Amino acid sequence: KIADLKGTKQGRLQLGVITTTKYFIPRILGSFCQQYPGIDIALQVTNHQKLQERMSSNEDDLYILSQLPEDIDLYHQAFLENPLVVVARKDHPLANQKNLPISCLQDEPFIMRESGSGTRQAIQKLLIQNDVSVKVRLELGSNEAIKQAISGGLGISILSKHTLSTESAHGELTILDVEHFPIQRNWYVAHLAGKQLSIIAQAFLSYLLEASQHIPIPDPTKASNTNGVSQLNP
Ligand code: PGA
Repeated sequence: KIADLKGTKQGRLQLGVITTTKYFIPRILGSFCQQYPGIDIALQVTNHQKLQERMSSNEDDLYILSQLPEDIDLYHQAFLENPLVVVARKDHPLANQKNLPISCLQDEPFIMRESGSGTRQAIQKLLIQNDVSVKVRLELGSNEAIKQAISGGLGISILSKHTLSTESAHGELTILDVEHFPIQRNWYVAHLAGKQLSIIAQAFLSYLLEASQHIPIPDPTKASNTNGVSQLNP
């Protein structure tokens, strides 16, 4: 039983998570480990394609991702929205405009995530559906590096809103009001369908589902935006 876990001296939890979860998962792990100090945790933070490779070789107890692979049988549960938004520097000429048509993305230098990224896949799907193509000026394998590049004036991008959780209302970045955005997606917690979860993995799954109810969706356009994940403690 999960209650017995408190007496457990040791155990290991192996997690595979996509890049955008790094804004909250380490904190949840922090409070989880305080409750269960005997547990060792290994956390792999990577993109969707690499996570899928890890699933194929059954490397982790649990996965957190936002695009479910079609050819792997997973038990999965959605636990929080993971919207994608258009991000620009605050002084961008489009920054204060309302209801921009999606075609406006065509004229802007664009910073794109690497191939294998689920963010990139979702962007490309929307662009194809709307017959829009963007001018990719730079390809980067990290959300944080993309934010720095936007701040540096290299262009605009489309990122998970959660990547903005560290931005304050006085920060340099803003969200553009473009039609068809946000792209609505969810984070799922998942494990291979045939896998028997360890007691530790079950405990973490319940802990995550409870703790994630307190995760705010960041909005740097609101003055009261805080990185509220410090309140996580179910
Ligand atoms: P990615 O996933 O790192 O594969 O782009 C992030 C996300 O979907 O939020």
